[in-house]
Amino acid sequence: MPLKVAIVGLGGIGNRHAQVYDKHDETEIVAVCDIIPEKADKAAEKYACKAFYSVKEMLDSNIAIDAASMCTAGAENGGDHCKPTLELLYGGIPVLGEKPISNNIDEAQTMVDLAREKNLRYGIDLNHRFTPAALRAKEWVDSGRLGELNIINMTMWINNPNESSPWFHIRALHPHSLDVMRYFAGDVDKVQAFFKRGPKPDGPGGKRVCWSNVQVNLLFKNGIIGHLTGSYDAGGSYGLETLEVVGSEARFVLRDACEHLEFYPRFSQEVETHAYIDGMMGFGETFDSRIGRWVEQNIAGVSPDEIDASGADALHVQQIIEGIIESWETGQVVTLQ
Ligand SMILES: NC(=O)c1ccc[n+]([C@@H]2O[C@H](COP(=O)([O-])OP(=O)(O)OC[C@H]3O[C@@H](n4cnc5c(N)ncnc54)[C@H](O)[C@@H]3O)[C@@H](O)[C@H]2O)c1
Repeated sequence: MPLKVAIVGLGGIGNRHAQVYDKHDETEIVAVCDIIPEKADKAAEKYACKAFYSVKEMLDSNIAIDAASMCTAGAENGGDHCKPTLELLYGGIPVLGEKPISNNIDEAQTMVDLAREKNLRYGIDLNHRFTPAALRAKEWVDSGRLGELNIINMTMWINNPNESSPWFHIRALHPHSLDVMRYFAGDVDKVQAFFKRGPKPDGPGGKRVCWSNVQVNLLFKNGIIGHLTGSYDAGGSYGLETLEVVGSEARFVLRDACEHLEFYPRFSQEVETHAYIDGMMGFGETFDSRIGRWVEQNIAGVSPDEIDASGADALHVQQIIEGIIESWETGQVVTLQ
């Protein structure tokens, strides 16, 4: 029996989820839902399923849904997620949400709490860590191949001239980078941050509204020290992200989430290089691998606390982000709760 899925929010990313489910052997798209009827109708035609114009209407129809993708956006790309997510969870439906889980910590906490109360699977599309290269690197770390981890550095930058709010860049982009850092280095204890506004993208002179460049120092609970460089004023044709993890025996560098993985032993010159492990060629394919894992875990019926990149994980990264903002606003090192 295929997993019956619904998609809520049919913008570019909702349609990206739909394409993944459409070609997946073990899923069937049964419903699409968007408050803009034309968007829902167009997707319903394309994926041969029913269209709905609100989550309430979809739930009231009693159509059988095993899991839903929640792909709304809103302020700082996360302001619209809460209400429809709560509706789905109240309706007893497991949810794979988009990132950021929310731009508002209280709303993120409410969704995580409800999923827990209802014992429902709640995952977030923190897709950057769902690559064969990241998995290989994680195996190296877990098997002790790097020795004791000392340092983790992450750079993530893209060109994004959108100017919706001062905190758009850190809240909307860096759930990804901080999730990858947490995946390798664990929970964060303290943060200290500096921001810089880039020049206005569209005008002569003046500064952006958005704090579009950031440097963050992080101290992890296990003593690892880390650094994040982020920007919406950089990027260009090559180089979305670079992750470097340095241990007492070796270090690795992972470039562009899945493309190049290099292993540098500390005491020898025998560098190992891997490219496009398991044929994953680019970032776009991380939607397939992340959503594929969500489908696999739902079909296997795993317990909600076993979900990879869960709502609780996504809430943790938003808490780190709020600590980063507080550090800049107060000029202090901020200890996270
Ligand atoms: N994981 C990734 O790599 C990645 C990449 C880019 C964007 N995103 C995230 O994907 C999300 C969606 O981005 P997008 O560019 O497709 O946004 P979008 O604005 O193009 O689409 C959102 C859609 O949701 C609909 N919508 C809003 N409220 C609704 C509701 N209550 N019920 C039903 N539909 C509703 C809107 O009408 C719209 O069609 C954002 O959160 C963004 O941060 C993730």
